[in-house]
Amino acid sequence: MRSLIKKLINTYFLPPLWRLAVWWPLLADIYFVFSGTFRREHRAVLHGKLQHTSATKEADDQGSIYTLRRNVHRLEKGLVYRPRRDVFARDYIGDTVAIYQVLLQDPNERIAPLLKWAHDVLKEYFSVVASDPAIDPPREKFAALPPCSACTSAAEEWIPYQRDSTPLNITIEDLEKLAWRRRSVRWYQDKPVPREVIDRAMEVAKLSPSACNRQPFEFRVLDDVELARKVGAIPMGTTGFSQNFPCLVVIVGDLNAYFSERDRHVIYVDGGLAAMAFQFALEVQGVGSCCINWPDIEPLEKKMAKALNLDYNHRPVMCISLGYPDPTGTVPYSQKKSLDEIRSYNKVSK
Ligand SMILES: Cc1cc2nc3c(=O)[nH]c(=O)nc-3n(C[C@H](O)[C@H](O)[C@H](O)COP(=O)(O)O)c2cc1C
Repeated sequence: MRSLIKKLINTYFLPPLWRLAVWWPLLADIYFVFSGTFRREHRAVLHGKLQHTSATKEADDQGSIYTLRRNVHRLEKGLVYRPRRDVFARDYIGDTVAIYQVLLQDPNERIAPLLKWAHDVLKEYFSVVASDPAIDPPREKFAALPPCSACTSAAEEWIPYQRDSTPLNITIEDLEKLAWRRRSVRWYQDKPVPREVIDRAMEVAKLSPSACNRQPFEFRVLDDVELARKVGAIPMGTTGFSQNFPCLVVIVGDLNAYFSERDRHVIYVDGGLAAMAFQFALEVQGVGSCCINWPDIEPLEKKMAKALNLDYNHRPVMCISLGYPDPTGTVPYSQKKSLDEIRSYNKVSK
């Protein structure tokens, strides 16, 4: 009976509804309720927001870690502004020092570099910011804290700096050559890619920009061939070639990084930027790769969540297969749009 009702809704109710919904927002809301298409993503966003906003400030609480990252980033932006204001960050400096204090107790070395960065930026901030009733109490609190473990060992301070501006030895022609060489490679040699090669590419990927420097994703690398092929067969777009994957990476976004649903797309933007850098870094090491779409389809979501043991706030952004290209395999031509099709300068009307 339930499946009959579902079938009737899908066949007779939803198709005209989504067409009309384009014109009437209320119908779009009704479509949302009955179609269920957006349900998982919507719930995942709310799940992440709940986790983030109920961050316990316990050591190793991911929500707190993301908040510290964002706030230290905001402090650095305040430090580099020209002209710099005498007083800034009044509304979040107290929280930032409180979170820093709690995370200092985290014995996990994994966050030691974050704490070093937070320490150095906070120290710099308090050395330049003027006295203010909202700033002076956290200033005193910070001054009384012990230094973090990485703070004492590293001599260099991780604070705003003037970047190296000596010309790079990489030309636009080099970059064009790389962009032309990288094509989606779907056929690989039966040969493992050393972890050092993959790690090196990830070192490049993790330098990519991310909103408020949150870096809200992980690269789940499956270089166990059986596992790579099993998980690689879950997305729909791999039919016919997942059986030759030597390695698969699933980029998993973490919606726990955000206090508001307004940032719900950022995992995809940040994950996508990192993916591109990763692919270029693989390519220059002779490793081919192919992005694989992650469709928002409930049964597949469940399968992937089970395979990788993902929480509800974790969402696959995309998968990337990689391996040494099979020299006998071909790649699609994949004609690219002309510059005229994608580029406009100062265009302000349709
Ligand atoms: C987000 C995304 C999803 C993709 N999904 C698939 C996929 O599921 N299966 C596949 O064979 N290729 C997939 N591709 C690869 C595209 O088909 C490919 O990038 C496009 O045709 C252009 O070819 P090129 O990468 O060789 O330039 C995907 C690419 C992107 C960026």
